[in-house]
Amino acid sequence: MAAYEYETHEYDVVVVGAGGAGLRATLGMAEQGLRTACVTKVFPTRSHTVAAQGGIAASLSNMGPDNWQWHMYDTVKGSDWLGDTDAMEYLAREAPKAVYELEHYGVPFSRTEEGKIYQRPFGGHTTEFGEGPPVQRTCAAADRTGHAILHTLYGQSLKQKAEFYVEYFAIDLIMSEDGQCQGVVCWKLDDGTMHVFNAKMVVLATGGYGRAYFSATSAHTCTGDGGGMVARAGLPLQDMEFVQFHPTGIYGSGCLITEGARGEGGYLTNSEGERFMERYAPNYKDLAPRDYVSRSMTMEIREGRGVGPDGDHIHLNLSHLPPEALHERLPGISESAKIFAGVDVTKEPIPVLPTVHYNMGGIPTNYWGEVLNPTEKDQNAVVPGLMAVGEAGCASVHGANRLGSNSLIDLVVFGRAAAIRAGKVVDADAPNPRLNQASVDAAFDRFDGLRYADGGTPTADLRLEMQKTMQADAAVFRTSKTLAEGVQKMDAIAERLGDLKVTDRSLVWNSDLMETLELTNLMPNALATIAGAEARHESRGAHAHEDFEKRDDENWRVHTISRVNGKDVSLSYRPVVVDPLTTESEGGIELKKIAPKARTF
Ligand code: FUM
Repeated sequence: MAAYEYETHEYDVVVVGAGGAGLRATLGMAEQGLRTACVTKVFPTRSHTVAAQGGIAASLSNMGPDNWQWHMYDTVKGSDWLGDTDAMEYLAREAPKAVYELEHYGVPFSRTEEGKIYQRPFGGHTTEFGEGPPVQRTCAAADRTGHAILHTLYGQSLKQKAEFYVEYFAIDLIMSEDGQCQGVVCWKLDDGTMHVFNAKMVVLATGGYGRAYFSATSAHTCTGDGGGMVARAGLPLQDMEFVQFHPTGIYGSGCLITEGARGEGGYLTNSEGERFMERYAPNYKDLAPRDYVSRSMTMEIREGRGVGPDGDHIHLNLSHLPPEALHERLPGISESAKIFAGVDVTKEPIPVLPTVHYNMGGIPTNYWGEVLNPTEKDQNAVVPGLMAVGEAGCASVHGANRLGSNSLIDLVVFGRAAAIRAGKVVDADAPNPRLNQASVDAAFDRFDGLRYADGGTPTADLRLEMQKTMQADAAVFRTSKTLAEGVQKMDAIAERLGDLKVTDRSLVWNSDLMETLELTNLMPNALATIAGAEARHESRGAHAHEDFEKRDDENWRVHTISRVNGKDVSLSYRPVVVDPLTTESEGGIELKKIAPKARTF
């Protein structure tokens, strides 16, 4: 057994991760007087939410008629009928409240002439239950909305006396023998000390796992740490095969160009200068949802109408927009285009390509953020002491495809919901759980095994093989052949985790060891993704299977539950929630089940 000295910390709640969801949960917990710690591997305002550009969806009706029922309908349709209806209703209903709270906390939103929060159009957001024109629903702070939200929530959390443990890496969850989460074991990166956090509630807000792929808009820190810890605790992941490709990553670097660029009037063209989205989505054109636009771009490239010397990308045109509008509404991406593509957006198009952007799947939860461990007897069984929010979780509001700007609202609505729920289920006066020492020891043993790993495969080499395999075989379009090959290749890659070589044995700022721990988190996420994709014999949302081109609601309107044990993945399925939370008519609008239909734009 590895012997590490450690310091023990006791809290009511420990939140792991300090992005938008983690900070909103931290703030909400602390506001209610719960002793709350936020443990984060990067400084809070460097969390990946800082990169969110275009905005946050809420039916404020500041720029024209809108209501939460239309928002809910668009979310259901956007999800290709795989989202849970209760959670999607909760999201759309609570969104305006959550945004006004942000405003009152101090988020510096862009403003209309009348001083209201400025809202822009985004893909898939419409009026009249998908029958009317696009709606301006996405509330924006120029094209730096995530940045504005993150700084505000961090300041507010400090004001509420939440305690931050910055640059602490979470190694593993502490689980009792009967399946209750009791805390988390952490490594402090800057001095090498070890820390055991004992909590009545652990909230995983660790973000997505975009870095399982070679080209992603996600930060290098997006390594699915929550999913990795959950898998090692014997708990499941859900709907991992649904990986979103954002249509406009900068060609080469993968850096994000916000969908807000098309919301403000930008459009895509092929090598013939044609605005090809008019052919694929005659009504909503460039403002169709992301899965639609990414597939259309890929089709254009495949059919020989890509731009550039190799005909392998597409142009995003903004130069027809007034320079003042670009300066006021899209300053961030104007700068990114200059730095990463050498392009002056007032004069030239930006070279873009669909790039991995978001994981619809994650740790299954109900709409209060409580983690689920479905059993045959109880599909909604809750794991005591454990919540997951934000991209790490799967509530499931995005189903098979997320609408742009529904991510930031997911973070704050469900971060807030987790805090409301914790206020009810966490007893601040009760003693903390007695820690299961065997679980603490197991975390240190795993850590020590990796620290002294002395095989023949450097971490960076194995990571690159995993990333290239995922990029090639679990791509925008998938076939039975590529998926079967991908599963085999990933199986062999995962096997080589046992042959890793870590060169640096120290404990202070050991990035070699940290990246190795991250790789052990990326791997179960990647394995679940490719196994779930291979098994799903239909096309739905972001899962475009060329051998099964149609959506199959009879057999496949179900969530994939994957349990990853080492390199083995076992799959089962659970039903999608089809009933809304409420059925009463509100404001003259009837809420009823939104039956699946063909998804056209
Ligand atoms: O395009 C964007 O600004 C990204 C927004 C989102 O993913 O929600």
